[in-house]
Amino acid sequence: MDVRYNQSLKDCNTFGVDVQARCVVRLDVKGSALSERGHEEVEQLLESGALRDAYVVVGKGSNILFTHDYDGTVIMLESSGKQELHVVDADGCRYVTVGAKCLTDDVVAYCVEHGCFGIENLSAIPGTIGAAVVQNVGAYGVEIGDVVERVEAVDLKKGTVCALRAEDCRFGYRTSLFKQCNGQYLITSITLRLKPSFQPVLTYKALAERVSGEQHADMTALGMRDVITQIRWQKLPRPEQYGSAGSFFKNPVVSDEVVEQLLSKYTDMPLYAGNKLSAGWLIDKAGWKGRSRGRVGVWPQQALVLYNRGSCTGTEVVDLAMAITEDVYSKFNVSLEPEVIIL
Ligand code: EPU
Repeated sequence: MDVRYNQSLKDCNTFGVDVQARCVVRLDVKGSALSERGHEEVEQLLESGALRDAYVVVGKGSNILFTHDYDGTVIMLESSGKQELHVVDADGCRYVTVGAKCLTDDVVAYCVEHGCFGIENLSAIPGTIGAAVVQNVGAYGVEIGDVVERVEAVDLKKGTVCALRAEDCRFGYRTSLFKQCNGQYLITSITLRLKPSFQPVLTYKALAERVSGEQHADMTALGMRDVITQIRWQKLPRPEQYGSAGSFFKNPVVSDEVVEQLLSKYTDMPLYAGNKLSAGWLIDKAGWKGRSRGRVGVWPQQALVLYNRGSCTGTEVVDLAMAITEDVYSKFNVSLEPEVIIL
């Protein structure tokens, strides 16, 4: 367990906001199953008393915005060292168990390479797989919760280890039990239920349009991974160039009346199942796309993304987010909510 005090968090959040944490604890949780040794570091953490004060568990910080110095302990899983993945075939499925500290895109690459299919559409998502499970990340028609079989975690409140089945994880749109009970669980490993044969998932309209007829017949999982990666990088800022947290807002779910009102005025408005609107479209339509305020901007290729134009603070991001939220509400009568966790 590596414990450091008064540490900058600039490299621990993808927005690149430069705040300090009173304490940063890095845990090296070896192994990816409860039966394996490797929870000594978690035991040390529990015994250290660090959890008596404020604390937050951070993966790669790709969905978090710090607005001030963090007066508590930031807990991170050490992501150096060998990636640990185990594949077991059973009941016509491939079960892949992976340590929570592994990067999501590395997991997707490994799965594609080893003939485990079903998460190709989550290619190029930043952050760790543990964090992906916390916020049930989704892209291009696939959510991680769709393929989670089991999650192993330490219940930091009770000081016990637990294994949760997918149905206990309360997965919903960009949410899970782990997000709802923020701070209670430290996910250590995840078992994914994948398929031994590749079947492209083309439910997302823009993807289906891109992968047209002939291509579709020949499409391999690797080909799908390439297509998804290309689409993502056309729409989102490259992390090495600009800090951001991907989508800043969730796509809002609204009532039938609001849908009707908006569709009568904007016949081209995108609408997802369950009365879910596109926040990106609303922000774009309100005229914010590509605009900036000081050191924070609205990404010119995807209005859902706020980005750091250079040394911005978290408060500046929140100020712009609030201005957008108020404007979208006044124009469309729709309330936007952040997807990003703001601390
Ligand atoms: N649109 C605009 N202007 C914009 C952005 C979008 O008109 O600036 C329109 C598009 O033309 C399209 C619709 O809005 O008709 C949807 O856009 P897009 O396909 O880019 O997807 P999204 O709903 O904006 C969601 C996720 C993304 C994910 C994509 C693809 C949320 C909050 N965001 O975005 O997730 O990659 O779908 O599945 O659900 C993330 O969570 O960080 C993220 C990037």
